[in-house]
Amino acid sequence: MTAGAKARAEMKDGHALRCIECGAEFKRAEAEFRCPRCGDLLEVVYPAWAESEAKTTVWGSHLKQAWRERKLSLDSQDASGVWRFRDLLPHFADAGQIISLREGNTPVFELPHCARSAGVDRLLAKHQGMNPTGSFKDTGMTVAISVARQQGFSWVACASTGNTSASMAAYAAHGGLRSLVLIPEGKIAWGKLSQPLDYGALTCQLRTDFDGCLRILTELVRRHPIYLLNSINPYRLEGQKTAAIELLEQLDWEVPDHLIVPGGNLGNCSALGKGLEELRSLGLIHTLPKLSVIQAEGANALVRTVREQGGKQLVTVKAETAATAIRIGNPVSWKKAVRVLESTGGRCEQVSEAEIAIAKAEIGSDGVGCEPASAVTQAGLKKLVRQGFVHRQQRVVLVLTGHLLKDPEYTLKFHRRELLTEAAEGEWERLDPYRRAPLEVEPEVEAVLRVLEKAEKTDAAN
Ligand code: F0G
Repeated sequence: MTAGAKARAEMKDGHALRCIECGAEFKRAEAEFRCPRCGDLLEVVYPAWAESEAKTTVWGSHLKQAWRERKLSLDSQDASGVWRFRDLLPHFADAGQIISLREGNTPVFELPHCARSAGVDRLLAKHQGMNPTGSFKDTGMTVAISVARQQGFSWVACASTGNTSASMAAYAAHGGLRSLVLIPEGKIAWGKLSQPLDYGALTCQLRTDFDGCLRILTELVRRHPIYLLNSINPYRLEGQKTAAIELLEQLDWEVPDHLIVPGGNLGNCSALGKGLEELRSLGLIHTLPKLSVIQAEGANALVRTVREQGGKQLVTVKAETAATAIRIGNPVSWKKAVRVLESTGGRCEQVSEAEIAIAKAEIGSDGVGCEPASAVTQAGLKKLVRQGFVHRQQRVVLVLTGHLLKDPEYTLKFHRRELLTEAAEGEWERLDPYRRAPLEVEPEVEAVLRVLEKAEKTDAAN
């Protein structure tokens, strides 16, 4: 019996962990979630699916129906926009181990203003910021933290630029676990910093960046029994892939031409790509959207990896961007991301700080809003249209990863002309039409009326 077959035979729930490089399969991961043989990343695989290959089309149509029916159910697993798709997730014999906050179920919005500005007929946004803690991290957290509880861990930990820590702390508190958060000092948005404090995490601000925090945590989990919940943990990506399934269901299984995703540690684009590939292998869809990954110019490790090394070797960078969520220079899942770019035919692009700020205000103009890291998608779309990679009539979906209120300081600074002070001296003219700083007005009806009339005149002129 091969090691893989043995691992499968031992698995009651039909999934295994497989190394993306050497293909070795394991029943359970080491503390730092790297392949014990070659040190590369692991992914969750479901050998049982391949064995039932002949039946996949039948199974596929059954799944679509089952998922739809579960929307009417009052069962707590069915109420989650992640566990509703549990057929494509690791199985929990005891569903009572699952820690859920009713994650997923996030809306798809039209962005007419952004569409006009980008030069496409129609633009949709899947708003993952509408998750319980305000970011897409919740969809992966529910799966990985449930595995932690099932495996008997009492402590969980992550390094974070803010959203992972907020999510982990909430799920840990909800499930009766303790959580340890390592965050870079001074480079984390207030909304995000406040969350783990309320949720009772042990929060450590380290005088280093995200990459430094992750390095320390990786060493820590080797020396102390604590479960690692960064996106190197492949169970995180299993949960995050359900956003792709949910999106396709919301589009009535009509595959869009383009899906545009921000890139930081590169877990999310990898997860969405995995979800899409699995849907295709099961016959639920027949083509893939081109999945493009957008990074900030100052944190462009994947862009450089693709351009300078043909995606073969990681180019790390010293990351700097006001979109702090993606201020990451040594992305863990780069190899998985490169594979998704290759398999879907997507592009990897970078956008400037000014482009991010404008794009965020544009998304706000559609009444939707998001945090800066999410706005790279709209900024990237504009670039991809200019390059002729995205065509006007094509169907495009942006993945907005975090809620506007995660980083109110960025928004205020932008509208008050305090953002990008030195960096963008020459950029203010471009940014000004999007700025709407609060006006100081005398407490008199006449004064407010004057302001209103002036605004009406400006509107009419535009
Ligand atoms: N958007 C937001 C709002 C994020 O918080 C992150 C990552 C990303 C995009 C990038 O996703 O890392 O999967 O490529 N935030 C992590 C954190 C790193 O610690 O919260 P990615």
